[in-house]
Amino acid sequence: MKALCYSRYGDRSVIHFREREPGDPGPGDVLVNVTAAAINPIDWKLREGQMKWIYPLKFPVTPGFDFCGTVAAIGKAVSNVRPGDRICGMSNRRAGAAMAEQCLCAAKAIALVPKGLSDEEAAGLPLAGLTALQGLRDRGQLHAGMRVMVTGASGGVGHLAVQVARRRGCRVAAVCGPDNREWVEGLGAEEVLNYREPDWLRRAGVFDLIYDAVGTIGFGRARPHLRTGGSYVTTLPGPAIWLDQFIRASIYRRRARTFLVKPSGVDLAELLRACKAAKLRIRVDRSYDWKNFAEAFAHSEGGHARGKVVLTLGAPDASRT
Ligand SMILES: NC(=O)c1ccc[n+]([C@@H]2O[C@H](COP(=O)([O-])OP(=O)(O)OC[C@H]3O[C@@H](n4cnc5c(N)ncnc54)[C@H](OP(=O)(O)O)[C@@H]3O)[C@@H](O)[C@H]2O)c1
Repeated sequence: MKALCYSRYGDRSVIHFREREPGDPGPGDVLVNVTAAAINPIDWKLREGQMKWIYPLKFPVTPGFDFCGTVAAIGKAVSNVRPGDRICGMSNRRAGAAMAEQCLCAAKAIALVPKGLSDEEAAGLPLAGLTALQGLRDRGQLHAGMRVMVTGASGGVGHLAVQVARRRGCRVAAVCGPDNREWVEGLGAEEVLNYREPDWLRRAGVFDLIYDAVGTIGFGRARPHLRTGGSYVTTLPGPAIWLDQFIRASIYRRRARTFLVKPSGVDLAELLRACKAAKLRIRVDRSYDWKNFAEAFAHSEGGHARGKVVLTLGAPDASRT
């Protein structure tokens, strides 16, 4: 089968098409015929070696955590899906492996895609949606009535986080640039804050929870805007937030947390039910035929995606193999 692949750290020029075997499904695995795969920042951060000290890669690597497709084969212990089912999921493999004609994934990390959701939308949902849900619910202890700030509200994680918080009865202040104001407002944000204005944070007020989906505020700046006992949750792990979490937060009687998203078919099914009920909308900024993967990665790496960037799997361009 054809797969996108790279064999050393570097920019997107290290990626090429290559013939690879997906492997046989283990007892708890499914083999998927992939129709669409989304790009997430983690895909290019891993490839650039930004995380190699804590998360070294074993080459060759096929990137991509998010996929939609149909089940080609199942392992002996799998009972939640059958061959032919249309599913999406977040790969539990070390660096993903979804940008391929076929990929293996744990059956417990997938869910059935409801009718009405396109392959591109379904591929765009898992990693970003799970990050929004797990970050708000588990780390942020989200509950109805909270006043919540979401940064990066026009990005893959943020636009879903705004909706998750709204759906759970919170009042949401969404932080985005001026060009995204209108559609972010349409996601249900009570208030939209323009992060390009110099003093936007000073005027933001006080929150029960600040969900820093792009990790640009930091606990130090967020702290004066948290009520006593309030939480700051960032999607960007690192020494600063660990120090905040274990030392500074308790001094200031606030909580500071970070986390790594975990594949979960149960959580994914919850998000898909919300999509089916039109309570959660996933925005695909742009989908690219996977032969144009370099352009698609460039778009994601530019840092200004509006929602998700997705690859659709047609025939790969022979000139790139
Ligand atoms: N910890 C985890 O498990 C986990 C999981 C998923 C993602 N992440 C991390 O979370 C971050 C966001 O991921 P993503 O998929 O949402 O990225 P993304 O889709 O690439 O985010 C792009 C969006 O961020 C907005 N943005 C950039 N700077 C901003 C700022 N200072 N304030 C408000 N919005 C800003 C951009 O809006 P403009 O065009 O207006 O600038 C754009 O719409 C990434 O760093 C990713 O690695 C972590």
